[in-house]
Amino acid sequence: MVTGWATLWNTTDNAFYFIMAISVILLVGIMGTMLYFVFRYSKERNPQAENIASSVPLEILWTVIPTLIVLAMFWVGWKGFIYKRTVPAGSMQVKVVGRMWSWSFTYENGKKSSVLKLPYNKPVKLLITSQDVLHSVFIPAFRVKEDAVPGKETYLWFLPDQMGKFDVFCSEFCGAGHADMITKVEVVSEEEFKTWLQATETATAATDGKVSLPVMGERLVREKGCLACHSTDGTARVGPSFKALWGKKETVIRNGVEVQVVIDEEHIRLQLFQPEKDRVKGFPPMMPSQKGLVNDDEARAIIEYLKTQK
Ligand code: CUA
Repeated sequence: MVTGWATLWNTTDNAFYFIMAISVILLVGIMGTMLYFVFRYSKERNPQAENIASSVPLEILWTVIPTLIVLAMFWVGWKGFIYKRTVPAGSMQVKVVGRMWSWSFTYENGKKSSVLKLPYNKPVKLLITSQDVLHSVFIPAFRVKEDAVPGKETYLWFLPDQMGKFDVFCSEFCGAGHADMITKVEVVSEEEFKTWLQATETATAATDGKVSLPVMGERLVREKGCLACHSTDGTARVGPSFKALWGKKETVIRNGVEVQVVIDEEHIRLQLFQPEKDRVKGFPPMMPSQKGLVNDDEARAIIEYLKTQK
C-alpha cells in the first residue's frame, strides 16, 4: 500500500483538480490578456500600428513553459496510472462476469453473488471477463472502470475506504438491457463480511432441507441474472415475465413453424439449455443457453420457484 506523500498524486481526484486548476489559470490568463489587448490597442488608443520583430527570449519562454506544464500533467496521470495498475500484495480476489444484462461476482471460496459485498478498507482485485459481448465495470464512487471482454481476463483494484452502498454500472453499450445492467458495491465491516461469506447455501443444501426449493430458485434467478430480462410483476421485458408463467399457453417458433405449448417443466428446461429450439413468439431471440452455468439441481429449484409465481 502506498502511503503518505506518495498518495498525493495517486488519486483520480487530485489529477483531475490539478489539470482543472491549470486549465482555469490558462483560461483566465489568456482571456484576461486578450481583453486587455482589445482595450489597450484599440484604434482609438493606438492609431499607429507597430511592426514587432520576433523575440528569441520570448519564443524560448513560451515554448519551455507550456512544455513543462504538459509534462507535469503527464507525470500526474502517469503516477495515477501506475498506482491503479499495481495491485497491492494480499488483495482479496473476486471474479466478475458480465453478461446480457447483469453482473455476477464469485469469491475465492466459490460463493456467488449478484452484489459486490466487500470488507471495509481491504484492497480488492476484480478479475473481469464477459460471457457474451463487451461490457464495462464502472464503479464511480471508487473511481475505477475496466472493460469486460469475452475470452479475455482484465483486472482492476481499489480500496473500499467508505462504508455503505455504491452503484456499479455497465459503461459499454451492450444491447437492449444495457441501462438495466446495474448493481451495488456493499462495503461492510470485516466481521459482517466474514459471516456473509461463510453462508454458502447451494441448491444441494436446499435439497438437504435447509432452504426450500422455491426459495433457492428465487435466489438463483436473482444471482444468475435472469431478472435482468424477466420481470416478476407481469411486465414484459426482453423476455416473458415470470409472473403466472407456469401453465400458461404460449406460441413458440419451432423449426420456423408456430406451435402452441403449455409452459411446463419440459419447456422450461428447453428454454434454459436449448433456447434456440423453441423461441417464444413476440420476444427477441436473446435467451442465452445456460448449459454449464446452471446445473440440474439448480434447474429443479428454478422450476419449483416458477410454479409458485402465480
Ligand atoms: Cu453490459 Cu452495457
